[in-house]
Amino acid sequence: MANSLFTLLVLLSATYFVAAQRRTSNSISQGSSLTPTGNSSWLSPSGLFAFGFYPQGNNTYRVGIFIAGLRLNKTVVWTANRDDPPVSSGVTLQLTPDGRLILQSQDSTTDAVIVDQSISSASMLDSGNFVLFGSNQEKIWQSFDHPTDAILPGQILSQNQELFSRASDSDYSTGIFRLKMQSDSNLVQYPVQTPDTAPYAYWSSSTNNQGVNVTLNLDPDGHLYLLNNSVSILKNLSDGLSEKQRVYLMRIDSDGILRLYSFNLGRKDNISSIVWKSSGDKCSPKGLCGLNGYCTLNDDEPKCLCPPGFDNVNPGNYTAGCKRNYTADICKNSEQRIQYSMRALEYTWWENDPYLVLKMKIKEDCETSCLEDCNCEAAFYKDGECRKQRLPLRYGRRLLTDSNVAYIKVASPTRQIETPSHSRPGKKKEPRLSILIISLTLCALAFTVFVISGYLAYRNRIWAYKKISAKGNFELMDDIAPRSFTYAELEEVTNGFQEEIGRGASGTIYKGKFNDKLVAVKRLENMLAEGEKEFQNEMKVIGRTHHRNLVRLLGYCHDGPKKLLVYEYMVNGSLADILFDPQNPPRWEERIRIVLDIARGILYLHEECETQIIHCDIKPQNILIDEYRSAKISDFGLAKLLKADQTNTYTGIRGTRGYVAPEWHRNMAVTVKADVYSFGIMLLEIICCRRSVNLSLSEEEAVLEEWVYQCFEDNDLAKLIIDEETDRKKFERMVRVGLWCILDEPSLRPSMKKVLLMLEGTVDIPAPPSLSSYLTAI
Ligand SMILES: *[C@@H]1O[C@H](CO)[C@@H](O)[C@H](O)[C@H]1NC(C)=O
Ligand SMILES: *[C@@H]1O[C@H](CO)[C@@H](O)[C@H](O)[C@H]1NC(C)=O
Ligand SMILES: *[C@@H]1O[C@H](CO)[C@@H](O)[C@H](O)[C@H]1NC(C)=O
Ligand SMILES: *[C@@H]1O[C@H](CO)[C@@H](O)[C@H](O)[C@H]1NC(C)=O
Ligand SMILES: *[C@@H]1O[C@H](CO)[C@@H](O)[C@H](O)[C@H]1NC(C)=O
Ligand SMILES: *[C@@H]1O[C@H](CO)[C@@H](O)[C@H](O)[C@H]1NC(C)=O
Ligand SMILES: *[C@@H]1O[C@H](CO)[C@@H](O)[C@H](O)[C@H]1NC(C)=O
Ligand SMILES: *[C@@H]1O[C@H](CO)[C@@H](O)[C@H](O)[C@H]1NC(C)=O
Ligand SMILES: *[C@@H]1O[C@H](CO)[C@@H](O)[C@H](O)[C@H]1NC(C)=O
Repeated sequence: MANSLFTLLVLLSATYFVAAQRRTSNSISQGSSLTPTGNSSWLSPSGLFAFGFYPQGNNTYRVGIFIAGLRLNKTVVWTANRDDPPVSSGVTLQLTPDGRLILQSQDSTTDAVIVDQSISSASMLDSGNFVLFGSNQEKIWQSFDHPTDAILPGQILSQNQELFSRASDSDYSTGIFRLKMQSDSNLVQYPVQTPDTAPYAYWSSSTNNQGVNVTLNLDPDGHLYLLNNSVSILKNLSDGLSEKQRVYLMRIDSDGILRLYSFNLGRKDNISSIVWKSSGDKCSPKGLCGLNGYCTLNDDEPKCLCPPGFDNVNPGNYTAGCKRNYTADICKNSEQRIQYSMRALEYTWWENDPYLVLKMKIKEDCETSCLEDCNCEAAFYKDGECRKQRLPLRYGRRLLTDSNVAYIKVASPTRQIETPSHSRPGKKKEPRLSILIISLTLCALAFTVFVISGYLAYRNRIWAYKKISAKGNFELMDDIAPRSFTYAELEEVTNGFQEEIGRGASGTIYKGKFNDKLVAVKRLENMLAEGEKEFQNEMKVIGRTHHRNLVRLLGYCHDGPKKLLVYEYMVNGSLADILFDPQNPPRWEERIRIVLDIARGILYLHEECETQIIHCDIKPQNILIDEYRSAKISDFGLAKLLKADQTNTYTGIRGTRGYVAPEWHRNMAVTVKADVYSFGIMLLEIICCRRSVNLSLSEEEAVLEEWVYQCFEDNDLAKLIIDEETDRKKFERMVRVGLWCILDEPSLRPSMKKVLLMLEGTVDIPAPPSLSSYLTAI
């Protein structure tokens, strides 16, 4: 009977349930196998669920669990190896005689392992759980413990487990949204690859810190709830229904909304319905429209648009975002007015991540201020505040109830014509410094009012859920230029310089607390004897730098011979602390992210800020790690203030120079390429996770750059790889970049811009020229 049904259904529609042979016994023994076109799945006893092949794309398949007892497209509830490409019809799924569950390709050269344990039998249960048993009939693995994007009745999403949406309705690979059952008892939705913190959340159950070991549960009657400590219900999300013959499924859909579906087994049409959803606002999932794009609702359907001056990166795929339709020139404040103009977008906002917040009474001043500031690429005006932003803009959306205005900088049509800006009469040009001073004063006055009204209103509107309390208030203060402190004030801030947290060539660092916020206070030592004016000028230069990957200078003190700097406090210490920690070295993906963070920070210092800054002391001790584990460069801009020999430290070991470029020792002019050199040495340290000099290793390996070069020449980079998750191709790319950066001849080293392109893989990297001159030097 099953066979005739099979033929009939295939004839009717290829998308209909492709019946597999129903097995009389539910236990799947060693040696059993499935193929996409033959016996394609193992059914549960009632035939409701199946484990096996289902189609994705053009004659390609995936392996997973789906609801087989429904007369509609397979409703997939779990997918194996979801980020591997789909397989062709020639593969075989096997429970091998030695007890592994694998996908064997036609020529059996490229087997993909699904579960690698000693399995003696398997079973597809009527609950939708696929269970593997060991030799004593004990459960050794079950699909319920490894959810992908959905949970079924009886399945629990326990603490720290996550669901990831699929890429699209027809592509089952990992998409861009996630749902996490947090250990703080809150169930939260975020975009992928973001920290688990409130600013990234777009939905939550609002149950933070209300329970212990809270889990998400779904009962067979569709009751969806959070369970506190396995005993009491903390929160009901959806009440149960008493209707019979229904199967429920909760899924984080590819559009980012969490939905509870009910499937009616007794019907032939109108089979599925939505019982509950996390939000009716389909624009609420953050990141739906990609970078720079913004979301607007059209009859409750989300629509992604690009701001003026931007085009879709990929018109068929909105999550790819928007890019500028022109290329920005090298930034010069004086030319901004001629080259660019501002376009206003009412009711529209993006993520609140300004590099500068200014108090302004009229919104046109915000527009002008952004136009004249070459670091400014967009500005948001709301409630008397102008928030200047750099690209890319994230999580954009438009809501007609919002009073926000976004100003976007676009190339003006007259851009080609070169006319000096001062020849344009009648335009007042606000001096930058006065804006800063005014903003500082105004900010102090308005701070209290602002905290109570503006910030709370803003927070309440956007975040129903807030995890980090008392943090946001002060963040806004950070956006103001550094303030000047007296020595006595800093004595109070650090409680009499009690807690020392670090010591470097340029001074000692103390922990302090200012306005309830932790700060790091650096007491500068070994300073050049120079005047107040010069010091103040340097502080202004440093204070004007604003970049995600630079530690923010909050203030300074110049009190006679006493010179101190106040920085934001970085909870995770320095890169040296986390990189050289043998117990818990950062993972490969994180190390790569840190490399890119640092490269972007240096690029900003070299090419993007108003005054070029050569750091002169790039090393892991000067890279700090913030709470989101982003890397930030510290101590930049100090080189000019320090005595010459402070940055110029030999390691004292023959054949090595530490992080210091060779030109330092040759009385050659020091340029930005000296930083490139130091970056190169540090890059090798980061990818290999070891210090550039380690005398406890053999002579051959002791000096990292020589060892890396040796391995590169011998075409044997595998020796350098410390963990399996390292991507070998990327690793080689990083090695090549590193070796280019540490070339002896400064002019041969790439610029930071080039370095970044090479790291990102957008340009080819030729093999670096021979380093032999270097190896024989000194
Ligand atoms: C499917 O499985 C049944 C029972 O194990 C077997 O008799 C039949 O030959 C298989 N069909 C194919 C196409 O492999
Ligand atoms: C599927 O493959 C066939 C033959 O390989 C091709 O002609 C057809 O265009 C493909 N369809 C899609 C949607 O890719
Ligand atoms: C099955 O999927 C196809 C393609 O994704 C779609 O066009 C069709 O409407 C679906 N059928 C049902 C019953 O959902
Ligand atoms: C959750 O469980 C803990 C321990 O059983 C209990 O102290 C707490 O009051 C419970 N919370 C709620 C909201 O029921
Ligand atoms: C939390 O609850 C789960 C399921 O109820 C249980 O398996 C686990 O042991 C609990 N964990 C702790 C730390 O109590
Ligand atoms: C949740 O729902 C259950 C039954 O559906 C009910 O007994 C319980 O009182 C509800 N709990 C809360 C906290 O609303
Ligand atoms: C399908 O069923 C749902 C509830 O089960 C009902 O609300 C809806 O109106 C039905 N739709 C159609 C087209 O029958
Ligand atoms: C870029 O966008 C702006 C504003 O949308 C438009 O005026 C201009 O024509 C566009 N330029 C190009 C080259 O598409
Ligand atoms: C859409 O673009 C995103 C980002 O570039 C990419 O990750 C995703 O795979 C694309 N989706 C499709 C269906 O092409």
